[in-house]
Formats: sequence, structure tokens, C-alpha cells
Amino acid sequence: MNYKKALQHNIFKVISQSANELHVDCYVIGGFVRDFILKRGSAKDIDVVAVGDGIKLAKQVAKNLPTKPKVQVFKTYGTAMLRYDDIEIEFVGARKESYSENSRNPIVENGTLEDDQNRRDFTINALALNLSASSYGNLLDPFNGVSDLEKQIIRTPLTPDITYSDDPLRMMRAIRFATQLNFNIEKESLHAITKNSHRIKIITRERIVTELNKILESKKPSIGFILLEKTGLLDYIMPELTALKGIDEVDGQRHKDNFYHTLEVVDNIAENTNNLWLRWAALLHDIGKAPTKRFSKKVGWTFHGHEFEGSKMVYHLFKRLKMPLNDKMKFVQKMVFMSSRPIVLAQDIVTDSAVRRLVFDAGDYVDDLMTLCEADITTKNPKKFLKYHNNFKIVREKIIEVEARDHIRNFQPPITGEEIMTAFNIKPSREIGLIKDVIKEAILEGDIPNEYNAAYKLMVKEGERLGLKPHQKND
Ligand code: CTP
Repeated sequence: MNYKKALQHNIFKVISQSANELHVDCYVIGGFVRDFILKRGSAKDIDVVAVGDGIKLAKQVAKNLPTKPKVQVFKTYGTAMLRYDDIEIEFVGARKESYSENSRNPIVENGTLEDDQNRRDFTINALALNLSASSYGNLLDPFNGVSDLEKQIIRTPLTPDITYSDDPLRMMRAIRFATQLNFNIEKESLHAITKNSHRIKIITRERIVTELNKILESKKPSIGFILLEKTGLLDYIMPELTALKGIDEVDGQRHKDNFYHTLEVVDNIAENTNNLWLRWAALLHDIGKAPTKRFSKKVGWTFHGHEFEGSKMVYHLFKRLKMPLNDKMKFVQKMVFMSSRPIVLAQDIVTDSAVRRLVFDAGDYVDDLMTLCEADITTKNPKKFLKYHNNFKIVREKIIEVEARDHIRNFQPPITGEEIMTAFNIKPSREIGLIKDVIKEAILEGDIPNEYNAAYKLMVKEGERLGLKPHQKND
């Protein structure tokens, strides 16, 4: 392979020249080289290792660039970063490094390129391209990373135990790369991850969530979640999910394994949406099933109220993982809370009023909810599969129809409380709420159209029923 092709952008020439001026060797390393070989598109992140002072090199590069970009220095890490032409370039001095058992703070010494490659996470991430003028574009691959790319293997440069205890987040990174690239994790690595899974506890939740998001954003997220479960990591990160595992049987009655069902739903939804939060909703849509599971001889297994329970659990889970407790979280809660609604609807004849109620309750999220529910169809019975999908098609058509006619999405009552008070000459009271409810119900049921005149008529009728008298205007 001609690696010089990877270095066509003029930034590399500038880095090379700057390194030459400072008499240091430097290399492009890590994800950029890996993704070039994998033809994963041009990377927007470039990591550069200098055998010497990385911060000095960054400053020299900035000086030599036409745009004179600002250099951001991270003193504690001995790194520096600059932006050029939409690319983020990070500079670091080659390091020899080891971590203490209970801390993420490394003991750092200057080192050679080999030392630096040694302390990287995976052979496929330790590939380096020389930027020094004399060897420009030469590949340095001391751990056969290229061969691992071909064999599609995630392997550590050092004994896995050392690499993973240096930085336990790498256990999740291994699984994340396996998911994104559809690679296998080498046996010894997998064993070491399983053995060290408890050490994930020393990693900040923000870093864990970054990896979880990347797994969820992959083409087939189940690969990652199955590995997280098998290695024991998932028990530490999201016990709500592992609680869904297993099939119970009483009196010959079984329920499905809700963990594997969930993963099927996540894979299904990944085919239809890139919305990360909708994917989160798919992952969490059944978490309420573990705490609500009951068995009775009469009806067998039930999970009554699991949607409500699940939506409450979403809040606690987001809080624990230090995820945003904002509208994204509320969206996931809403999806989980409503996750069974379209299914119940599609099992029967789809009526207009049921669709109107669905649109009323889901508002702007009704399409996302439909996408979630379609992904939730994992039945292996082809007849049922077809029936549910057909019914959902009808539901989707009816949503459009009902919406065009009745404008239920983001429903605003056609008669306001003020208007009711004026019509009956009354002060704020319980009756206003009652009348508004009757009007809303009549519209959702399809008894009256969502229009002012029809609603006014019903208001008068309902007010009289409640003993109110329409106010006579004195002209
Ligand atoms: N690295 C490491 N251990 C970590 C994180 C990163 O050894 N815990 C090294 C790897 O050599 C990696 C490089 O630092 O290639 C850059 O890290 P990062 O930007 O997080 O990952 P990339 O490999 O660039 O991949 P991606 O952009 O997909 O996250």
C-alpha cells in the first residue's frame, strides 16, 4: 500500500517541515492510520507523536501555517491541539507510561516511538506513519497491526492484563471497536476483560457513556451489548438491562428473554434511524419489565405497568450515568412510557378515534414512536409479523389522514377557559375544566370536528347540563 497517499493534505508537509526545524522525529499515529487502511473515509482527527516536545512542535506548526491557528495546551497531559481546515490535530511527546492500580494518573517519562506504541490500546491503533523528510510515509507496525486489520482482530500490543489495567476504559473501547468494525476480540483479550471487568468502576461515567453512545450509533449495536454482557461489564454499567435476561417457566408457561428481545429491537431500529436518543429509547423500552414481572395461574406472565415503571427508571439511569437530564431524557421517557400504545392498537381493528388519541398523546413524537414500535416486532411467527406490520402501515396512513382533518398534533382546545367564563358569566371554577374535558373527549372520539362552532355548541349543551345559564348579552 502506498501510505504517502494518506499524507496528501498540506498539513502533513507543514508538520514535517516544522519537525525538521526543531530536529525532532514525528509520526502520525492511531485512528487516522487505521481508518486510512480500512478506507473508512477521511478522518477529522489526527494524532501526532513527536519524539521530543509535542507542545513545542504544535507551536512551530501553528507558526508555519498560513492561518496561524491558536494552540490549545493541556499542560497536565503534555499535549497540545490546534485546528486547521476543519481538522483537529493533537500533538503529544512520545511517552513511556504506567498507571498505578487505583488511579487514572499515569507516571509519565519521555520515551521512544516504540515505548509510545507499546502503551497504546490495540495493535490496529498503534500503527504509525513517519513524517520525517528522509522516511516520509514509511509505516511502522511493530505489532502486526496491518495483519490484524486484515484478520479483523482486536488485540493488545502488550499482555492484555497490562494494557487493560493501564486504562480500564480500554475494555469498553475494545468492545466498541469490535462493534463499529465488526471485528472479533482476540480470546486472551476477552478473557482479560472478563477478569478485570470490575475495574470499570474507576472510570468516569462520562467516558463510559461516550463509548456506549458509539456502540449504539453502530450499524449493529447488539454486537457490543452481547460482549458487554458476556464479559460482565454490563452488570456494572447498566444492571437494569442484565436484569431482563433469562426465561422463567411456571406450569409450562414461559415468557421471552427480554434482554435478547431488546437487542433485536435495537438492531431493528438502527436500520431505520440515526437518532441516538431513539436508539436509547429502544435499548430501555422494556427495562420496567424486570421489576413488574408477575405470574398468575389465570393469566400467566404479566408485566403490568412496566412502561410507567420503565419511564421512571430512565430518569434514575440517566442520573446515575451523568447523562443529560434535559429534553433528550424526557424524550426517552416518553417513548418508553408510550412504547406499548401502537402495539395494542395494531392488534385490533384500527379505529380513527384510537389513532387520534395516539397522536394527541404523542404529539410531535408520534413518528418516532411508530418507528420504535415497528422495531419492537420481533415475533418469529411469519403470519403475526406480517399482520402487525400491515396494521402499522394502516396506523401510519391513518395518522396522516386524521392529522390533515383534525389537527390533533399539539392540540389546542378550540374553546378556551376564558371563552367559557364569558359565555356563562362565571368565575374560574371546576366546571370550566369539566367542560373543556368533554369537548376534548368529543373531538378525540370523533363525535364533533375540531372546530370552534361545533365546540361552542357542545359547550352550551354541557354547561346547561351542569346547571349553568348562557350569559345574555344586553345590546
Ligand atoms: N488510545 C489509547 N488508549 C485509550 C485511548 C486512546 O491507547 N484509552 C490511543 C490509540 O492509539 C488511539 C489514539 O490514542 O488510536 C487516539 O484515541 P481516540 O481519538 O480516542 O481514538 P481513535 O483511535 O482515533 O478512534 P475514534 O476516533 O474512532 O474514537
